[in-house]
Amino acid sequence: MTARCPVDHTAATAQAPGLRVVHRSALRTGMALVRDPFRALETLPSTGDIVVTSVFGQPTVVLAHPAPVAEMLREGRGTWIKDRLTQRTADVFGRGLLLSEGDAWRRQRRLLNPGFANARFDAYANTMRERTAAAMARWPARGTLDAAAEMARLTLDVAVRTLFGADIADRDANRVAEAFAAVSDFVASPIGLLPFDVPRWLPLPVIRRYARAIAELDAVVGALVRARRASDAPGEDLLAMLLAARDEAGGLSDAEVRDQAVTFLLAGHETTALGLTFALFELGRRPDLKARLHAETDAAPPDAGHEAFPFAAAVFEESLRLYPPAFALSRENVQDVVLAGVPIAKGTVVVAPPWTLHRDPRWFTDPLSFHPDRWSSPEHVAPPLGAYLPFGLGPRKCIGSRFAMLEAVLLLTGIARSHDWTSVDDTLPPLQPAITCRPKGAVRLDVRVRHPSA
Ligand code: HEM
Repeated sequence: MTARCPVDHTAATAQAPGLRVVHRSALRTGMALVRDPFRALETLPSTGDIVVTSVFGQPTVVLAHPAPVAEMLREGRGTWIKDRLTQRTADVFGRGLLLSEGDAWRRQRRLLNPGFANARFDAYANTMRERTAAAMARWPARGTLDAAAEMARLTLDVAVRTLFGADIADRDANRVAEAFAAVSDFVASPIGLLPFDVPRWLPLPVIRRYARAIAELDAVVGALVRARRASDAPGEDLLAMLLAARDEAGGLSDAEVRDQAVTFLLAGHETTALGLTFALFELGRRPDLKARLHAETDAAPPDAGHEAFPFAAAVFEESLRLYPPAFALSRENVQDVVLAGVPIAKGTVVVAPPWTLHRDPRWFTDPLSFHPDRWSSPEHVAPPLGAYLPFGLGPRKCIGSRFAMLEAVLLLTGIARSHDWTSVDDTLPPLQPAITCRPKGAVRLDVRVRHPSA
């Protein structure tokens, strides 16, 4: 065993009965990641259930079995924090809900939870329906669109209106889209993957673009916050809550409001946009499934609640299974720990990749097929805890998961009510492994309006 090995490997196999603990050389891991990172994640279970390796010199353990994943993510005693690569995005997200830890995180989550209470969902649903109708009015009667760009635009519009009670100009929407692309490019770059911080003043294009992206986000969010502070109407949205939030420790500082606002602006739209893009792509090459979505949509009144659309919900759940936007969740242990019987040294990065777990034939039959009925058929058997986790698991589970499901169903059915579409290409463009898995090119759809005379 090398000095850097995070696992006492001789003991490991015996201590994790039933789980295959495997060592993999840094070289093999590096080559697999460079060649095709998503393929490397998908084939991981054939290597082992717990794979001990090193990435750019950083001791790393990858979990390819739901049991250790659930054990790690559900732990609430503070052994596991967001890992150092994720923490690096603090330049962007600051100490907002996504990246804060311990008491600071608990306080924020308590203050923000009411923004996602049931009472708010009717108002959110109205905005989601209305913005989808507005987007459909802009779509051509016939033409070719990039689903990824369209969905990012629409979900950003919904996020800004529901969470910030504001309108977003096209120019600002483009600035946010460009900024998120620059942040993703930085995270996915070799510099973003180094296990130490590279000075931000280095004159490298990827760093410069990253710095500009942060300045753009600050400008857009700063303007939203200033407009609200100057307004007579305090509003009832998330931003109003942030500005009015008080507990025994007082209110949120300007910097805290900025960090939360950027966190919600990005986390609140990009992931949902990707899930919808992948769903539209799959439906666009499966006329049988699209016909069922159209039938379900046509049978319901325009203001129907999301309960009226179980098939649309199953389509989105399946999209999040096959293409989980948050494709790899990572943690780091602040002390030595034993996970699923395996001792892991302090400071190890431990990765729980939904991409791997969601595509494992042990938990999902025919896992590479897009098959929404697996979620709704009477024979449906729930996968084991930790095998399906598009929104994460445990105390750090996504605060916006119900919002996202509501939005996905209403947007998908709003689109289906208005338009028909087919996918131009048989395959997706290559995906970029960054904070999320974004397509590196357009996801082209041929669209046509369904009821031209209506
Ligand atoms: C399909 C859409 C979405 C997906 C797939 C998704 C996925 C996730 C995942 C996997 C996590 C946990 C990360 C971890 O454990 O390391 C997370 C956390 C989070 N998500 Fe989402 N999310 C979605 C939509 C949303 C929306 C709509 C919002 C806000 C309106 C949001 C806000 C957040 C925030 C603030 C956190 C941090 C929660 C905490 O640490 O307490 N997400 N999300």
